[in-house]
Amino acid sequence: MSSHLTGRLAPRPDGFLPVGPTTPRWPLGPHGIAYGGDYNPEQWPEEVWLEDVELMVQAGVNLVSVGIFSWALLEPREGELDLGWLDRLLELLHAHGIAVDLGTPTASPPAWFFATYPQAHVVGRDGTVLGFGSRGMAGPSSPEYRRAAVRITTALAERYGTHPAVVLWHVHNEYGAPVSEDYSPSSAAAFREWLRVRYGTLDALNAAWGTAFWGQHYGEWDHVGVPSVAPSVVNPAQRLDFARFSDHALRECFRAERDAIRAHSDRPVTTNFMATACPSTDLWAWAREVDVVSDDHYLDAADPRGYVGLAMAADLTRSVAGGRPWILMEHSTSAVNWQPRNVAKRPGEMARNALTHLGRGADAVLFFQWRASRSGAEKFHSAMLPHAGTSSRVWREVCELGAAVSQLGEVRGSRVVADAAVLWDWESFWAQDLEWRPSVDLDHRERVAAVYDRLWRDGLTVDFAHPEADLSAYPLVVAPASYLISAAAARNLTAYVEAGGTLVVLCFSGVVDEHDAVHPGGYLAPLADALGVTVEEFLPLRAGEHVRLAWTDGEDDEPASDVWADAVVLHGADVVARYVDGPAAGGPAVTRNSRGDGAGWYVSTRLTGDALAAVLHRAYADAGLTRSELPDDVEVVRRRGAERDYVVAVNHTEAAVAVPADGTDLLSGERVAGTVKVPAGGVVVVRTGAADARVIDVG
Ligand code: GLA
Repeated sequence: MSSHLTGRLAPRPDGFLPVGPTTPRWPLGPHGIAYGGDYNPEQWPEEVWLEDVELMVQAGVNLVSVGIFSWALLEPREGELDLGWLDRLLELLHAHGIAVDLGTPTASPPAWFFATYPQAHVVGRDGTVLGFGSRGMAGPSSPEYRRAAVRITTALAERYGTHPAVVLWHVHNEYGAPVSEDYSPSSAAAFREWLRVRYGTLDALNAAWGTAFWGQHYGEWDHVGVPSVAPSVVNPAQRLDFARFSDHALRECFRAERDAIRAHSDRPVTTNFMATACPSTDLWAWAREVDVVSDDHYLDAADPRGYVGLAMAADLTRSVAGGRPWILMEHSTSAVNWQPRNVAKRPGEMARNALTHLGRGADAVLFFQWRASRSGAEKFHSAMLPHAGTSSRVWREVCELGAAVSQLGEVRGSRVVADAAVLWDWESFWAQDLEWRPSVDLDHRERVAAVYDRLWRDGLTVDFAHPEADLSAYPLVVAPASYLISAAAARNLTAYVEAGGTLVVLCFSGVVDEHDAVHPGGYLAPLADALGVTVEEFLPLRAGEHVRLAWTDGEDDEPASDVWADAVVLHGADVVARYVDGPAAGGPAVTRNSRGDGAGWYVSTRLTGDALAAVLHRAYADAGLTRSELPDDVEVVRRRGAERDYVVAVNHTEAAVAVPADGTDLLSGERVAGTVKVPAGGVVVVRTGAADARVIDVG
């Protein structure tokens, strides 16, 4: 089997420096990219542990996450600790130069906890009490859960807070999954308290929720409840606030554990996000709470071009991290076990996935999990050490990737250079996802992915940004789905255009405020200055219906669009395309507004494929961006270091491709002059000259 990577096998993993009060919170150690994964040795007899660590050394592993699901073993009865096995494990790992990301086990409380505190079970929206024997946390607002979680976390921090093996803390696991909302009595009480703080008075709450509608007006705080299943649609403002509250309650749990750790340890604290996969956590807020951002990502096996979604998740993770390097906490060596069809990765695919994350800012490449589980729900999930053992393709590729990663240490700490920003706002997505919207066919996920895919194909590197963030660094900002927009965000976007930015806004944006109330002045009114249009009426299309558009600049193709149309009212914008037929026939479909030094584009229908490309390419011209000339499915990203740039080129095609670059290929050690050949299915990382050299022509 031919190798897709040309790195040499590292004889031993890089050691990590002992940490002390002056060491930076992350990254730790003298150099190198972290490599490893979740390690669950409690599933195996201790005799296996030595074999594990020896194989880890062979594979180039230098960091493992342990203890994530170990609460029942660490505290077998309430208040009774059994930490001996963890002592032995950490010593063993440390003796082999393997650093530890120590988990707090609070994602999965023990049987005794639920037997003693049955009121801490999560209750679903329909009143179902969620049982034991699975994973999934207790109710985040349960005082009993919070007490028990902080107690076990404190015990671990006291014991291991300064342990030389521990370089990072991994609090809980994937907050928000598998459940994010709790409709129990303790949650209802906490929700009321949260609302009191947010609104102060019941009058303010009634006004914000618009409770004059359907006679919901409240006269007593005690009557305000969680938005459980009701005979018809529940007040969307109430549901939106409950989504905010639920996210806040999870964050409170994180903070309590983090602070318990910080009282005894100077090591950095993280919790593993799921950037694009967990809709319920507002990661802009979460990222402010962690010392280093970490993320889990799994390919959508149903999508043959899942690597575009991977790139998007990596870009979103880096963006919530404020551009700083981040940790890829989990991905898979091959198939997962929880999708309908768990497609195994093809030879070389794991390395392409891993190094794409690295190219997009990850300074750690970690997997779920080290050794495949024999028992339990995840026994068919791939691992670094599969059931087939070391005589397997996956194991060989794991060792090759470990060797490659060990050649890339100098990339650590460098920052990705982005060309454009795409707006992303969890609150808006929560609101848009509620019931009774104008069309079930308009999906914010699809719109964001469609825009991202186009930018990716065009070779533009994307940052994601909150609509209220400073956008001045980006020549182009696209708002694929900004249904909810605050007055502050609208001012920000307008100022961005006036200062010379190019803004592209897609349909069903600028509709409601933070209470899911339609903006005064109607749809799009807050962005009317920037875009030079408003929307008089939504004109959604029937399932499968298409409308045709005609460009006003003489282009003779007649693109078709579907799902949506608007009755657009012009307030100074130029018409770029008109509807030829359909409910808005003759009216503006795509518009461009000159405002200040910039331009505001509005797309009032769902454009896909070439039609979306045609609009974005016109906007690139406004923004001074040009497209990459590389073939489709070859991605190139640049990381900028203090003195050097690193060009990471990933070839997803079945033919070798020449990518412009000058410098040194870090995996082969060879000089590169003019172009570097990236083999079919391969990855190349080139160290280039001065930081300001523009070797890859995407602009
Ligand atoms: C998540 C979890 C892991 C494991 C993997 C399986 O990311 O954090 O514990 O269940 O999924 O893909």
